[in-house]
Amino acid sequence: MRAALYDRCGPAAQVLRVADIDLPEPGPGEVRVRIELSGVNPTDWKSRSGATPRPIDVFQIPHHDGAGVIDAVGEGVDPGRVGQRVWTWLAAAGRRWGTAAQWSVVPERQAVPLPDGASAELGASLGVPALTAHWCLFSDGPLAGRTVLVAGGAGAVGHFAIELAKRAGARVVTTVSGPAKAELAARAGADLVVNYTEPGAAGQIRAFGAVDRVIEVALGANLALDLAVLSPGGHVVSYAAEPADPVIPVRACMNANVIIRFVLLHGVPAEALDRAARDVAAAVAEGALTELPVHRFGLDEVAAAHDAVEHGAVGKVLVVPG
Ligand SMILES: NC(=O)c1ccc[n+]([C@@H]2O[C@H](COP(=O)([O-])OP(=O)(O)OC[C@H]3O[C@@H](n4cnc5c(N)ncnc54)[C@H](OP(=O)(O)O)[C@@H]3O)[C@@H](O)[C@H]2O)c1
Repeated sequence: MRAALYDRCGPAAQVLRVADIDLPEPGPGEVRVRIELSGVNPTDWKSRSGATPRPIDVFQIPHHDGAGVIDAVGEGVDPGRVGQRVWTWLAAAGRRWGTAAQWSVVPERQAVPLPDGASAELGASLGVPALTAHWCLFSDGPLAGRTVLVAGGAGAVGHFAIELAKRAGARVVTTVSGPAKAELAARAGADLVVNYTEPGAAGQIRAFGAVDRVIEVALGANLALDLAVLSPGGHVVSYAAEPADPVIPVRACMNANVIIRFVLLHGVPAEALDRAARDVAAAVAEGALTELPVHRFGLDEVAAAHDAVEHGAVGKVLVVPG
């Protein structure tokens, strides 16, 4: 099969290449997926560049997320799954078989049925962003009737955080940096969209209501805003590192009685990931999740796809393995 891969960390154009390699066979408990679309996330370029390196087992095919069709199953897996449309999650976590290839092999629980009505574009966008959004949202009690602030609502995680929070009955306010992103966030269903680069953002959010939960993409940049709008005992859930670690204003956090929680998808317990995958699948089946605008790259353009994500492409970057 044709696969994009790297065997050392470094700049995309220097270490990523496309090679013909043997078609992998699914082992016990695994399924093989013919990949239609491979979704690129920031974690993929960070692992590849060495910014957040992960062990490489001879070679690494990048990308956790993908959409495709199961074409072979290993021992112990229901043969009836052959032919099933699926989306994958964490395909490349501790394994070399990421989705930037014509086929991937994953444990069967990491290939989740994708209903006929859902596009491959949506399926290939779900894994990392939707599971991260889910873990950020649903680990601190029910959301119905609560007010959630999603920072960066046009980002991939932010997008699904808005949609999953609305599905759970929350009131959702989100922040963006400009009109194009405001439109995406509004389309995702946010009740209020605020431009955080303009003066008065905190006032607009406070007028909407005291915030119970913040799903935070930039803790250092936004903590002052978060503290200004949170209700006492509110939660800030931080899921992204910034170039420099923030200094935490302890007294202000004490005054706000704020709870700050940190999230890394790679360390989330297996049962919680399974629960999140089931709930995301249910949301997809209900039509509650939508895809962002997509940017397609061929397999030979995988380096450009990584660079596009690294440089903040708006929407989802997808690779077509062909
Ligand atoms: N912890 C985990 O397990 C986990 C999982 C998934 C992703 N992540 C990390 O989370 C980050 C986002 O991932 P993604 O896939 O959602 O990326 P993305 O699609 O590029 O979205 C990032 C969004 O954040 C917005 N943003 C940046 N600075 C902001 C600020 N100060 N206030 C509000 N919004 C801001 C950006 O828009 P503007 O710059 O225009 O505001 C952009 O819309 C990445 O760093 C990624 O590595 C972590």
